[in-house]
Amino acid sequence: MLKLAIIGTGWISRAFIDAALSTEKYELTSVYSRRLSSAEDFTRDFDNVKLFDNLDNFFEDDFDVVYIASPNSLHFSHAQLALKNKKNVIVEKPAFSNPTELAEIIKTAEENNVLIFEAARNIHEKSFTIIKNFLDDKTITGADFTYAKYSSKMTALLAGDVPNTFSTKFSGGALADLGVYALYAAAYLFGQSNLALYQGIILDSGVDINGIGCLEYDNFNLALKTGKNLTSNLPSEIYTTDGTLTLDGINAVSSAVFETFDGQVTELDVSALENPMAEEAWDFAEILLDPTSEKNTKEYEELLHLAQIVANTSYEMRKNAGIKFEADKND
Ligand SMILES: NC(=O)c1ccc[n+]([C@@H]2O[C@H](COP(=O)([O-])OP(=O)(O)OC[C@H]3O[C@@H](n4cnc5c(N)ncnc54)[C@H](OP(=O)(O)O)[C@@H]3O)[C@@H](O)[C@H]2O)c1
Repeated sequence: MLKLAIIGTGWISRAFIDAALSTEKYELTSVYSRRLSSAEDFTRDFDNVKLFDNLDNFFEDDFDVVYIASPNSLHFSHAQLALKNKKNVIVEKPAFSNPTELAEIIKTAEENNVLIFEAARNIHEKSFTIIKNFLDDKTITGADFTYAKYSSKMTALLAGDVPNTFSTKFSGGALADLGVYALYAAAYLFGQSNLALYQGIILDSGVDINGIGCLEYDNFNLALKTGKNLTSNLPSEIYTTDGTLTLDGINAVSSAVFETFDGQVTELDVSALENPMAEEAWDFAEILLDPTSEKNTKEYEELLHLAQIVANTSYEMRKNAGIKFEADKND
């Protein structure tokens, strides 16, 4: 059983705890919040959880893995501290602000003999493995991935505030927050692109509120659309020389239908779980409970490789759109 600790008491942390507990491989032992009262409110449904409002004391506690769901730009300092205290880390997407931070984190994890995972939940869905296997013998001619959802923080933004998710201080924006799912799907299915472009609609705060990107691969292009001030109902599609695979979403897939040019339809056997974070929680536990097996070592290296591709691509796209985070200042 893995002793699980939490940083950040937003709704996503509660969703991850529920997912983790559903696997029966974790127990919740420790929660850090800036205020003890928030930690108390957050853990009302749980027994025997230790609460902290001091990070040094928190990391002295005896737990195996910390899930970090603080604002994006704080992931780096929280993860560094965790790794140096020999705690394994699961960090919410987007894991770090830029590839330099990711490289430093991987080095710190290696030095301390612990593991670091980015919680990019979509690629842990069984549906993505099924899709990848289905595409294995096909030649890709293009792809169109869309994830855009009107943000609950739009009201505050329109009232003149700058919520964390819309600030360069906290490494926010549509590409970082939602586009990252499309980048993960692209990295998982097609690998590293040769070129990545992005045209964003930029707020006064300096981040993108929506945008259109293009990833160029050897023989095809992938179009990417993302946004936080609009909701798109467009499906995502992968084009092949045999026909088109249509997915009902790229952040979570519950339907995947392939249609050949002469109209033959194949429905892939995909479905989404009730808690979309359960499959990633399961995958991380499998590796954490047996980190040195050949299978898990390979799996972990593949996950790190994907995180590196996504970090590089996202950074290249931000540079292309002129989006600079405060965390990039030493980059
Ligand atoms: N996988 C998914 O489906 C999914 C969905 C939503 C969000 N996320 C990711 O989860 C992370 C958190 O997102 P969120 O929307 O919950 O962020 P948020 O509301 O801005 O902050 C999350 C938590 O971090 C702490 N926090 C907030 N502002 C802080 C500050 N200035 N300094 C230190 N701590 C601060 C708060 O916990 P305390 O008050 O307890 O300290 C807060 O509850 C992001 O990386 C986001 O991309 C993932």
